[in-house]
Amino acid sequence: MVTYKKAKFIIDLKKAELIAKKVKFILQNVPNSKLFFSLKSQRDEKVISTISKIVDGFDASSFNEYIYIKKLFPKKKISVTGESMLMEEIIQIYNSGDLYNFSSLRQLKEFSEKYIKEVNIGIRLETDYYGRIMGIADNEEFFEFFLNNKNIKLVNIHVHHPQKYKNDVRSSIFKKILKIIQKFKKANVYIPQSINLGGGLDELYREKCMNTYLLEVNNFKKRYELISKLRVIIIFEPGELISRGISELYTSIIDVKEIKHNSYQLTVNSSKFILFPWYNPQLSITPTNLTNGNSTMVNVKIYGFSNFSDDYYGEYMLPKKILNIGEELIFKNTGAYSMSMRSIFQLLEYPDIIYLE
Ligand SMILES: Cc1ncc(COP(=O)(O)O)c(C=O)c1O
Repeated sequence: MVTYKKAKFIIDLKKAELIAKKVKFILQNVPNSKLFFSLKSQRDEKVISTISKIVDGFDASSFNEYIYIKKLFPKKKISVTGESMLMEEIIQIYNSGDLYNFSSLRQLKEFSEKYIKEVNIGIRLETDYYGRIMGIADNEEFFEFFLNNKNIKLVNIHVHHPQKYKNDVRSSIFKKILKIIQKFKKANVYIPQSINLGGGLDELYREKCMNTYLLEVNNFKKRYELISKLRVIIIFEPGELISRGISELYTSIIDVKEIKHNSYQLTVNSSKFILFPWYNPQLSITPTNLTNGNSTMVNVKIYGFSNFSDDYYGEYMLPKKILNIGEELIFKNTGAYSMSMRSIFQLLEYPDIIYLE
């Protein structure tokens, strides 16, 4: 097809810097808080080099992510949370002075048998994650572990609350943490001084609930400090909130089919699967076409160029007159969980990456 050209994935580094600065500014409403960036959402070297000047540290979720970021920024703080780590890898993380948040008590017990030195550790506390129970439960076995292993100090509790949950779920998680430290205090067990609240801030931000959320966090923090008599550090580690808005995918139409009156099917020169296996990006049409006067809005289903019928970007209303071969369609807000999840489905070519510096 003459009009075929490769799609372009445009990364705006200036925007990455601006968004990271804005997020940092917003989160400063929580005194003594730290901002980590979650690599799983975007680990492009130029992006994270830009962001690294602003954030206090990084969240790595696998050993490979840990090694990758450690090599690039050996002095930055790294918090590791994930279930794929081997014991040797966890020991290497601790020997390098970084923090691994244990997700399983069984694994923590195994670690305590192998690593007899005094060590500061983190845990991921049990929460319901979209119906999947993740992390360590705050049961008797958990308390006994810290009571009997005084060389192992719990210095960080990690709770990544999924964004779709509302404030009642968050408040029950906060209550759970406060109960733990009350119990630790009574039993004279070391009390963690940092709480990592994970990511999941993007939806809160888009729904304009950020201020309410930060008030909740500040209330929790006050109660924590009252009970523990310690100054607590709150860590936020968003991925999507920072990375979502930094990229756009420029595609062009390679086929147009009229299905019925005012209803069309388009194919664009990129596959959904090679870039967005997880979610549908938002589409915006080129401004030049928007200013070209009025046109009937029609219903359009957009498909990717693999020969897999589920390669589908979604349904949109678009001006009829832009439904031409070679017309550019821009998918906005594609910076999160796109490049980091890309696949080589059908060995299709990946869009060219272009950086705006
Ligand atoms: C432990 C942890 N931290 C941070 C994040 C980043 O979340 P988001 O991209 O929604 O901000 C995730 C996402 O799954 C996570 O599991």
